Amino acid sequence: PRKIFSGIQPTGSLHLGNYLGAVRRWVRLQEAHDDVTISIVDMHSITMPHNPPNLRENIFVMAATLLACGIDPEKSTLFVQSSIPELTEFNWILSSLSTMPRLAQLPQFREKTRLVKEIPLGLFVYPVLQAADILLYKATHVPVGADQLPHIQLAQHLARTYNSCYGETFPVCEAIVENGEASRILSLQDPGQKMSKSIGDLLATINLADSPDLITKKINSAVTDFTSDISYNPNKRPGVSNLVTIHSQVTGQTIKSVVDEATTLDTAKYKERVAEAVIEHLSPIREEIKHHLARRNEMIHLLEVGASKARQQAQHTLSDVKQRLGLGTSG
Ligand code: TYM
Repeated sequence: PRKIFSGIQPTGSLHLGNYLGAVRRWVRLQEAHDDVTISIVDMHSITMPHNPPNLRENIFVMAATLLACGIDPEKSTLFVQSSIPELTEFNWILSSLSTMPRLAQLPQFREKTRLVKEIPLGLFVYPVLQAADILLYKATHVPVGADQLPHIQLAQHLARTYNSCYGETFPVCEAIVENGEASRILSLQDPGQKMSKSIGDLLATINLADSPDLITKKINSAVTDFTSDISYNPNKRPGVSNLVTIHSQVTGQTIKSVVDEATTLDTAKYKERVAEAVIEHLSPIREEIKHHLARRNEMIHLLEVGASKARQQAQHTLSDVKQRLGLGTSG
């Protein structure tokens, strides 16, 4: 049977890139009766300078948002990464199988090092901890956005390395990536970059909890180009095509039907239509986020239940790993 695992950083509420590129797929996999485990990866979030009260709050906002998007704790396992101490123990073991040149070439590391003067070791080994996440739960499939593919390749590499050193233990996981442009939603202000939380420009990123007015404002000021009609051509017209992608994703229409319906519109009018569609899609989610945030104790409880499910499996894997490596005295 398939074993699905994915993670998300608790950066506050989700942005539209996380949602369309990853989270929606998690919900669909869960509805298709796959075995889905989702980790809120707070240990990854301390690899860059952070504010502790914000991190704690953001863990709850993320949990509320995932629940609002349809992650159902009755069907899936949802937990906070740092509640599993076995993970960091396993991370040490995988670090010993990782090489510095291999980690240094990963694109996300190279991007983030530009933002700090001295590179924290945690930032460097970040992808090893991600591989530890995936391997510890013996995931076979990892649904992610396209930006995470190099990290998944590292996890595959570490699974193979481990298996050949210590015996067949880990499945070599497969990435599951959305078709077409949804795998990489672009920044509204710079269609040369992916939409991301770390982009400084507040207008670049739509958050699921944004008010309708703010969504309208962000979409109206999206950078497009000097052609006023609507067409879909991600290479030549990345800005407009990104809006078309978002529009088709939130309405469930094909790219072609979205473009056909927009033939009489110029970009300004089209942006209004896209904003309406996004608002309509996100409004119920926004209400649900509030609903869950007002029930913090319930969230704490369900995250604990998720953690104890995840931990059982983590303990099982780790004790086998320690045995095979010749660590300790038992077994
Ligand atoms: P994170 O928190 O940056 O993003 C969560 C998910 O959202 C996807 N994503 C996007 N998809 C399309 N367009 C975008 N603009 C966009 N921005 C983000 C990401 O690809 C991701 O799937 N390192 C991971 C978290 C992680 C993880 C794991 C993932 C930790 N351990 C184990 C999978 C398996 C991260 O920082 O994702």
